[in-house]
Amino acid sequence: MFSTAFLDLPALQGASGTVTLPGSKSISNRVLLLSALCQGTTVVHDLLDSDDTRVMLAALRQLGCGVEVAGTTVTITGLGGRAWPTEAIEFFMGNAGTAMRPLTAALAVQGGDFTLKGVPRMHERPIGDLVDALRELGCAIDYLGNDGYPPLRVRQPSLQLDKPIPVRGDVSSQFLTALLMALPLATQDRAITIEVVGELISKPYIEITLNLLARYGIAVERQGWERFVIPEGSRYQSPGTIHVEADASSASYFIALGAIAEGKGIRIQGVGADSIQGDIRFMDAAEQMGAKITSGPNWLEIQRGAWPLKGITLDCNHIPDAAMTLAVMALYADGPTTLRNIASWRVKETDRIAAMANESRKLGATVEEGPDWITIHALPAGQWKRASIHTYDDHRVAMCFSLAAFNAAQVPVRIEDPKCVAKTFPDYFEALFSVAHTAAQNIPVICIDGPTASGKGTLASRVAAALGYHYLDSGALYRVTAHAALQAGLTLEAIDEAAIAKLARSLPVRFEGDQVLLDGVDVTDAIRSEQGGMNASKVSVLPAVRDALVDLQHSFQRLPGLLADGRDMGTVIFPEAPLKVFLTASAAKRAERRHKQLISKGFSANIDALRADLEARDARDMSRSVAPLKPAQDALQLDNSSLTIEASVEQVMVWWQSRQVFGSPT
Ligand code: DC
Repeated sequence: MFSTAFLDLPALQGASGTVTLPGSKSISNRVLLLSALCQGTTVVHDLLDSDDTRVMLAALRQLGCGVEVAGTTVTITGLGGRAWPTEAIEFFMGNAGTAMRPLTAALAVQGGDFTLKGVPRMHERPIGDLVDALRELGCAIDYLGNDGYPPLRVRQPSLQLDKPIPVRGDVSSQFLTALLMALPLATQDRAITIEVVGELISKPYIEITLNLLARYGIAVERQGWERFVIPEGSRYQSPGTIHVEADASSASYFIALGAIAEGKGIRIQGVGADSIQGDIRFMDAAEQMGAKITSGPNWLEIQRGAWPLKGITLDCNHIPDAAMTLAVMALYADGPTTLRNIASWRVKETDRIAAMANESRKLGATVEEGPDWITIHALPAGQWKRASIHTYDDHRVAMCFSLAAFNAAQVPVRIEDPKCVAKTFPDYFEALFSVAHTAAQNIPVICIDGPTASGKGTLASRVAAALGYHYLDSGALYRVTAHAALQAGLTLEAIDEAAIAKLARSLPVRFEGDQVLLDGVDVTDAIRSEQGGMNASKVSVLPAVRDALVDLQHSFQRLPGLLADGRDMGTVIFPEAPLKVFLTASAAKRAERRHKQLISKGFSANIDALRADLEARDARDMSRSVAPLKPAQDALQLDNSSLTIEASVEQVMVWWQSRQVFGSPT
């Protein structure tokens, strides 16, 4: 997951390959609650691991459910047949609507002393219609803040279930879903009827609910979309094992990707055209716009068809979430696209109509909006602007606008707060980068070099972390090469140059966090020693060895970008890098730092001797004929003698930002 403040997506040119998508959010949280209401144990496979499901799992644990998590398989031991908690419990629901609504209903019908709170945005998301319906049937619910919104307090109900229970269907279908999942708990001696008031929106989500209720032994009788009857004596029964389909809304980004990007096509694993999720109908809309789609059980394949895409006008009531993706596809169309009947967008994670309009405008698009519609005009190649996309803590805004990086103007796109995708798809950007491609010149490289003990490794890895970029510690490659050569019984002298170069050319090295693995064996400590540095220094003067490591070093230049640390990064390996930093510090300061480092590792050290050593090594490094230590011509010098690490990182970030200017809000 990218947890940086922003993520700069380089201009992307194409995409090909297979993605496996995480489980559906809607199915995951319904399955968790249903499993919790059952008697016995349910093994849930392919569960989505996201903010929303974590919120639900935490709440279920608080209620006393058995919860065992093993990767994406979660085993739930339900509360059915067991004592319902009587002590006061406070639940924190974050911004998870799919947890808040159904849990509120279940808790209110069952009764107790429960408080449900969330983040500030959750306290702005309406829940009044659900509370009204629950009060109508005798539930005791108080608003702790503003009327109609969380936080809520739930107490003991006195249920009156003889009359049909009215619930509004035109604000959020989650209210009806919540009642459908809660009321089977109250059917001991009567059937219960729910009546929808107003036009029911998002019907496909109700279909998911009914489908899953059936899997858990509850046969709801649906009369049109107006009346739902839960039979007397309904009892939750565990299906034993259940698989969660991949999320069809998440699939929309990769369906769109296949339609937009040049390449051999995109294959999506985990969900097919026969999905029980309504958002799978996004397929039809994407096809109308030009996508070529084929499908089988649990997979989809998408290819670019019509290009540019075709502008469409569509009633999106049946695909409220996935329809946002159409708004970004519209930028690549041959005319305007109008999405209608999307009033529910205004009360989601953010006001999504406003968000899609604002951010599309930043990219240069012309957009019109109304209470329940949006029109996005196509964006001709010459009119794309570099924009910093605000994401409003809304996963879908972030994922949608990542698709803007395929623009013909080849401008990069900045996504602010990229970690908001965690709500439904924590590894979204990793999945995107695994199939997207672009020319090497589009993938930014920042080079950092400097004398030994200048702190360049620390600085480079910190900047890499701040930008979400990959990190190449080229010194480690020379260290590993020397290590491998010695292991193979070679000397580190010119006499073995060809043999060492051969080893280096197919070096089985892997970096995992701070660990360096050679052929799967952890060699981190061995290569990081002073001796390891000396050995590296010896092999690094052999031209054939340097040459042999070039391809390996180039292979680190991957999306979304690279921090390259080491001697010839800016001069030989990545001469085109848009930012090169030469880090220096006085020998006295470097000796002091190295001294501290050695002492902290339990080695004894003498500061004067260290300083003399460093000065000697500087002189040798600067005067050696092969890859001497010298700043690239266009490098910026940073003397960090009196700077903290944070201040040095900040300086490099400032330089980088000045080279990567993104438009501010218009
Ligand atoms: O950065 P370091 O201390 O891990 O580097 C070990 C040795 O390798 C050092 O003597 C410099 C040399 N080196 C090099 O010649 N070229 C590089 N790109 C990186 C390191």
